[in-house]
Amino acid sequence: MENNKQEALAEYERRLFREVPEAESIVLKFKRAGHWLRRVEPATELGEQRTWLLFWTPNRALAESFDLAPELLLVLTPWAEAQARDVSAAEEALTRDYRLDKGIVLVVARDGEAERRLSQSVRHTGRLYIFLPFEQVLAAQDTRIWLRQILRDRLGSADLFAAGRPVFGWDFIGREKEIQTIRRKLLDGRPVGLYGLRKAGKTSVLIAIRDQLVADAGRGARQPVAVPIHLDLLGLSFAELKRSGFMRYLLRAMHEALERVGIEPATLGLPPSFADRRRLSELAEQDVERLVPQALECLIDWAAGRPSSPTILLFIDEYERILGTSQFPLADGLDIFDYLRGLVQRYPGVFNFLITGLGGAKASVSRYGTRQNPLFNFVIDYPLAGLTREEMDVLLGRIGRRLSLGFLPEALQAIWRETGGHPYLARELGRLIDKGISMEERAARNIDLAAVQTVLPLFHQEIAATMTEIRDAVADIDPNATSALLLALQYPSDSADALAMLKPESLHALRRYGIVNEPGAPEPVRIGCFGEWLLRNEVLPLKAAANA
Ligand SMILES: Nc1ncnc2c1ncn2[C@@H]1O[C@H](COP(=O)(O)OP(=O)(O)OP(=O)(O)O)[C@@H](O)[C@H]1O
Ligand SMILES: [Mg+2]
Repeated sequence: MENNKQEALAEYERRLFREVPEAESIVLKFKRAGHWLRRVEPATELGEQRTWLLFWTPNRALAESFDLAPELLLVLTPWAEAQARDVSAAEEALTRDYRLDKGIVLVVARDGEAERRLSQSVRHTGRLYIFLPFEQVLAAQDTRIWLRQILRDRLGSADLFAAGRPVFGWDFIGREKEIQTIRRKLLDGRPVGLYGLRKAGKTSVLIAIRDQLVADAGRGARQPVAVPIHLDLLGLSFAELKRSGFMRYLLRAMHEALERVGIEPATLGLPPSFADRRRLSELAEQDVERLVPQALECLIDWAAGRPSSPTILLFIDEYERILGTSQFPLADGLDIFDYLRGLVQRYPGVFNFLITGLGGAKASVSRYGTRQNPLFNFVIDYPLAGLTREEMDVLLGRIGRRLSLGFLPEALQAIWRETGGHPYLARELGRLIDKGISMEERAARNIDLAAVQTVLPLFHQEIAATMTEIRDAVADIDPNATSALLLALQYPSDSADALAMLKPESLHALRRYGIVNEPGAPEPVRIGCFGEWLLRNEVLPLKAAANA
């Protein structure tokens, strides 16, 4: 077996060297630097020229300093003009190969302009693609030092802490418990409402569950456990802000879902107008509204007949957008959830859905005017708190190591106090600390308490908008909660009494959203910077103050 692998490697190496004359010297440079070439694969079928994928085990020192995964992908592209296909090939390899580092990809390119040319394709991958022109590799004197320097510079300027889009792959930390619980409920046929503060990591968890279900289908006999259909309602265009728009969006999402699990739409017995994805946008409104139930029921029938009985799962991100928080007509939103509730009831265990949003308020009112709320008493609430202390430490440690920054326990403790593990806040604080440290200081210096304290004033300024959002979320949970928190903060020795004034279910919710600490913790408010912000920006209503 080992022998066969060696022979395959040698054979592919020979072919690569024949096709791309510079490749031999380039590969030798990397080998001399102590990296171990594990596999070589052409990215495409035979042709005169091909892009090649090289899988390297980086040398130990490099792997340790930058916390690299067991293997690093190197894309070798011989084209005079690098092509978007090079990136797709890398992405494809990264999804199928679990040993590969998900954060960094090296692209060794003949095209000196590759970086600029591929910047669009690279942007939405969420990874750092490091472009190295052929000449630069060939000219490097000591490849060991050279590569270390490049990683240090590129990672150092990469702003790895910066939060923005939902994270996946290398960047996604922890949440195993949440994923397990939600996944189990969904496969058991219980609709779930995943709620959380702004930027608490809801969409990232949703994507992790989606990708895990898809990956499970890929293992072994390719028997899907579920077909997750992902709808991000933030992506609804203005023209789609009505029932038929939602349905058209859903059709597109179904196509993507089938593609993800590798099911050919034509095999499902779906109407031909569905099977042709390009024609979806040309369909008239009434056709779209007819086609969605047809297509969904075909898919449900198909699932019910499979030996693995997969569940058709609809993931609706930002569900509040169709229940009155955008231009979307509320009546249409209620129609949609009436319909989805009907499907869950008619096909228990075969069809189910997950909604995510800022809170459960819109799902838990019993009526909207004269209409019943289809989500009322139907969806199980699953509030998402911040990361645990351990997860936050892993997050900061992992990104820190890539940036040659080591966080001392005292610094981690201070970041925990400020952020309570809220992923966006923790990353933002990390980003400001990272920004303040020059390239020369890195590696030589650890992040101590003082380094955290220095950036706190700036941190407090930058997160003001998020604080207002948290305050609104607190008021949504219970209109009296802000005063109770203020009292607890102003009179620390009586904080338990102040919180006990709240309804037990409100206090429970504040804990589950990760705003208030568990009893016995040294501080009543888990997100310390929010506590300070409240003290500075809110005043106790007179009545509450008099009672205190
Ligand atoms: N598990 C995680 N590991 C690492 N970083 C995370 C994690 N979850 C969230 N983050 C960070 O927080 C940011 C917000 O995450 P995400 O978009 O998933 O949250 P959200 O709750 O869906 O936000 P929004 O309220 O804007 O919809 C991400 O850009 C990422 O930087
Ligand atoms: Mg989100």
